[in-house]
Amino acid sequence: MTISINIRNKKFYKDPDKAAASLLILIAVIMVFLLVINLLQGKDSNISEYPSLKFLISGEIVKDIDLENLEENIETHKIKFYDPIYEKEKRYRGFELKDVLQFGFGDEWKNSDYTDIAFEALDGYVAVSSISKLKEPGGYIVFSDLDFEQWEPISIKEVTPGPFYLVWAGQDQTTKNEYPWPWQLSSINLIKFEDQYSPVFPSGVSKNSSVYKGYEIFKGRCVRCHSMNGEGGKVGPDLNAPQSIVAYRNAYMIKELIKHPSKYRYTQMPDHPDLSDKDLDNILAYFNYMNEIRD
Ligand code: HEC
Repeated sequence: MTISINIRNKKFYKDPDKAAASLLILIAVIMVFLLVINLLQGKDSNISEYPSLKFLISGEIVKDIDLENLEENIETHKIKFYDPIYEKEKRYRGFELKDVLQFGFGDEWKNSDYTDIAFEALDGYVAVSSISKLKEPGGYIVFSDLDFEQWEPISIKEVTPGPFYLVWAGQDQTTKNEYPWPWQLSSINLIKFEDQYSPVFPSGVSKNSSVYKGYEIFKGRCVRCHSMNGEGGKVGPDLNAPQSIVAYRNAYMIKELIKHPSKYRYTQMPDHPDLSDKDLDNILAYFNYMNEIRD
């Protein structure tokens, strides 16, 4: 038996049998090592086989339901529609939103104590939407992309939208019209907006004031990216702290930066060409009011 191994040690070289035996032992050790790693990984993937959705009421977890359990209890649908985020027609498998809310919360989600639902994504992104909007037909929580084995990457960030993605099948049910489209959805929080987001709420104004109307637009379209007094989304700057936007920008420039920021900068903030002058005045009235009542 002749084996030539490139080892400096002369003794090894002179005794080929010993060298071969050492080599075999080394190979055996490596194989056992790989086997152990494999077993550990196998165990790990068993644990996270099914993704889960958390249901919260006023920030407190009431249920954590995995996909298998959701599929056993809620009717699934195959849907096909134009997805404005992908900008093309897509096919998904998923549940009707109202069925998921009913299964997760029971009748509680129809209790008028609650005004909104905050959908939270794995990366901390939160989309808030009023319950009256969510009751409309067209909303689905989808869990499988029928055109792709896994998921087709979404947005400029090329992330996967799974495990859960909230979509709307109606043509006008877009983010522009205040429908929430969170991907990587991880929890659904049933809230009374005033309590959960009190720093954003303009307390002490009537519901038909321009301040309140501005607040409603802000709640529907801006708070997912902007905070007021530290409460809200973290994608864009806080618009009331440490100083209000109205303290360091004039009204004309604020409206310009809301209506078409892309005219001035490369930015993550979307243009809002559909907001009327009246809408912009209302948003400004809201900013001014929040500046006045800040302590
Ligand atoms: C997708 C996230 C996103 C949404 C939605 C969004 N913004 Fe922005 N906004 C940003 C970011 C990020 C900036 C930071 C500056 C920039 O990149 O232009 C910004 C900047 C601004 C500014 C300018 C701040 C400054 O001093 O330069 C104003 C005012 C503003 N947003 C208001 C709004 C209003 C009002 C809405 C809702 C109608 C809104 N934004 C919706 C992300 C967003």
